[in-house]
Amino acid sequence: MENDDFDAIKRLIEKTLHIKCQNYKEAYIRRRLLSRMRSSGCDTYDAYLRYLRENPAEFELLRNALTINVTEFYRDPEVFDLVHRELFPTILKNRGRIRLWCAGCSSGEEAYTLAILLAETLGISNTRNATIYATDIDEMVLARAKEGVYDPKALTKVPEALVRKHLIRREDGLFEVRPHLRSMIRFSRHDLMTGQPIARYLDMVSCRNVTIYFTEEQKNDLTRLFHSALTPGGFYVMGKTEYLAREVDHLFRTHNSVQKVFIREG
Ligand SMILES: C[S@@+](CC[C@H](N)C(=O)[O-])C[C@H]1O[C@@H](n2cnc3c(N)ncnc32)[C@H](O)[C@@H]1O
Repeated sequence: MENDDFDAIKRLIEKTLHIKCQNYKEAYIRRRLLSRMRSSGCDTYDAYLRYLRENPAEFELLRNALTINVTEFYRDPEVFDLVHRELFPTILKNRGRIRLWCAGCSSGEEAYTLAILLAETLGISNTRNATIYATDIDEMVLARAKEGVYDPKALTKVPEALVRKHLIRREDGLFEVRPHLRSMIRFSRHDLMTGQPIARYLDMVSCRNVTIYFTEEQKNDLTRLFHSALTPGGFYVMGKTEYLAREVDHLFRTHNSVQKVFIREG
C-alpha cells in the first residue's frame, strides 16, 4: 500500500513536473519527499498525495526539493567559455596564479569543469598554480564530489577530447577524474549562511544556482560575503537566472550582463 502510494506520487511528478524519476536513485526521491512531507505536515505518502491534489502550489516546492542538488559538467556552456577565454587569462596575466571559490558545488561537476578549463589554460604540468576551494553544506553530495566518479551521461556536454585528457574510463564504464584535476581542488563542508568566507583575496567566486531557498536579505548578505572574499577586481559569477539586488549592486560592476559575471568594486 505504502509502495503503491509512493508509485502514484512518482507518476504525478512525471506527469505534472515532467521530471523523470528513473533518472534518480529511489532513496534520493524518498529523502526529498520526506522533507516536503515534514514541511507540509503529512505522515504518510497517502496523506501527501491528497495534499498535493488539494494544494497545487506544493508542486513547485516539490520541484525545488527534487532539484536541490542537481548539477552537471558544463552547465550553461557559454558561461564556462567566457570563464576560459576571458576571465582565466586576465587573472593569470595580472597575478600569475589563480585562487577561486566554487560555492555550493554539489557533487563536484562544476568544480571539475573549472579544473578542466584551468588545466587547459595553464597546462597540466603547471596546475600547482591553481587552487579551487569547492564547498557545500551537504555532506552527502560532497562525498560524491570527493570520489570524482561519474556516469557517462553526466559528461555529455564535455568535448570528447577533453574527456579523454582529463578523465579515465574505468572497466565498469564509469569515468573517474584524473589526479591533476583532484590536486587543484580542496573540497570542504561550508554553510554560506554563516557569513564566513572560505578564504580572502580570491580571484574569482562561482556561486551558481544555489540561492533557490534564500530570502532577499540572505541573498544580499551572500553578495556582501563574496565581496569580502574577493580581491579588488576579482570576478563574481552567478547563475543565469540570478541577479544583484539594488541594495548591494554598488559592490560590483557588470562585466557581462548576459552571463551574469561581475567585478568587485573597491
Ligand atoms: C542546484 S545545486 C547547484 C550546483 C552547482 N553550483 C551548479 O550550478 O550546477 C545547489 C547546491 O547548493 C547547496 N547549498 C544550498 N544552501 C547552501 C548553503 N547555505 N551553504 C552551502 N551550500 C548550500 C546545496 O546543498 C546544493 O548542493
